[in-house]
Amino acid sequence: MRSNRLRIIAAVAAAFALAGALGACAPQAAPTDGEPAAVESEGTAEAAAFTWSVDSDCGTCHGDDVASFDDASCPASQHAAMKDQCMTCHNDPNMERAHAKVTLDSEKKKATLKRTVVARDTCLASGCHDMTEIAADTADVTVLTDKNGTTVNPHDLPESEDHASINCSSCHKLHTADTPAEAAPATCRNCHHADVYECNTCHDH
Ligand code: HEC
Ligand code: HEC
Ligand code: HEC
Ligand code: HEC
Ligand code: HEC
Repeated sequence: MRSNRLRIIAAVAAAFALAGALGACAPQAAPTDGEPAAVESEGTAEAAAFTWSVDSDCGTCHGDDVASFDDASCPASQHAAMKDQCMTCHNDPNMERAHAKVTLDSEKKKATLKRTVVARDTCLASGCHDMTEIAADTADVTVLTDKNGTTVNPHDLPESEDHASINCSSCHKLHTADTPAEAAPATCRNCHHADVYECNTCHDH
């Protein structure tokens, strides 16, 4: 049992490593893009102080994410009108906490970013995306085919509590060129550990 869990963890870790390796979209933000003005007086506690708010200038530190909206290889480019509306998607109530230890000090600023969640409802809100339409568009997509040859439309999963926990951002990156086709199978393997979509054929739980 333990080895099985470890295998799941290893698969997830591998997926993350892959995502990391595929990295950001081609042109990175200009090197100076992310340097806050306060960097000159780096070292003084006063200069390094930073309190995040919804009105903070996100680009001071997230230059690459801002730049992704102008990069045709990133899905962000299809959301170009939202370049100044980061908070429409990043409305996660934990944002303030995620930034609690952030300072304007250049070292901390480069801290590895955690994975962030954009709720599925955010993408479906205000009629931005219609699940029925998307499902129709991807009816022929076969990237989700298990080892028994069962193919599932990524936007038309059988309804269940488990499946409701899957967010669009589980498969769709926004600020990087990673494709959903790469991320999708790993999302399923988090639970369908044997790469078989049917659950109760091998054991009863
Ligand atoms: C002073 C620099 C700075 C500014 C300004 C800033 N951020 Fe961040 N942000 C960071 C750092 C550093 C992290 C990584 C925190 C960590 O790894 O714990 C982060 C993390 C995040 C994350 C990931 C959160 C998570 O749950 O892991 C998101 C999303 C994000 N920022 C969005 C924004 C948005 C939107 C704005 C503007 C409203 C903004 N940030 C302004 C430095 C900044
Ligand atoms: C259309 C929705 C949307 C908008 C608008 C948006 N983001 Fe994101 N962002 C996402 C999604 C989805 C993810 C998580 C998936 C991923 O890993 O790319 C994400 C991830 C992030 C992260 C976490 C690490 C990373 O770089 O992937 C940061 C930081 C971030 N966004 C900053 C921003 C900033 C700054 C803006 C505004 C300039 C912005 N986002 C606008 C959807 C959005
Ligand atoms: C299990 C992974 C997965 C999830 C979850 C997912 N998608 Fe997708 N999505 C895909 C794949 C795979 C494609 C096909 C991409 C391709 O053809 O390269 C796709 C394609 C799309 C497209 C383009 C469809 C077209 O017209 O060709 C849109 C828009 C989209 N997804 C939106 C969403 C939204 C919104 C959500 C959440 C409500 C979502 N997706 C959830 C995997 C996923
Ligand atoms: C959070 C865990 C979880 C994730 C992630 C998940 N599933 Fe499931 N899935 C389940 C469980 C548990 C069942 C068993 C059905 C039930 O009782 O709800 C199931 C059932 C199914 C079934 C029905 C199988 C049958 O008995 O006919 C299909 C098809 C399926 N999943 C496909 C997928 C695909 C494709 C993905 C990836 C996009 C996915 N699932 C991701 C937990 C998950
Ligand atoms: C192809 C056969 C097969 C299918 C299909 C399968 N499993 Fe398993 N599962 C196994 C085997 C074999 C083990 C024992 C793994 C080990 O010990 O390495 C296991 C172990 C587990 C465990 C660990 C049990 C424990 O007590 O810790 C869980 C939980 C589990 N499976 C859940 C699921 C769920 C949920 C599904 C459907 C999404 C599923 N399995 C589908 C073969 C399967």
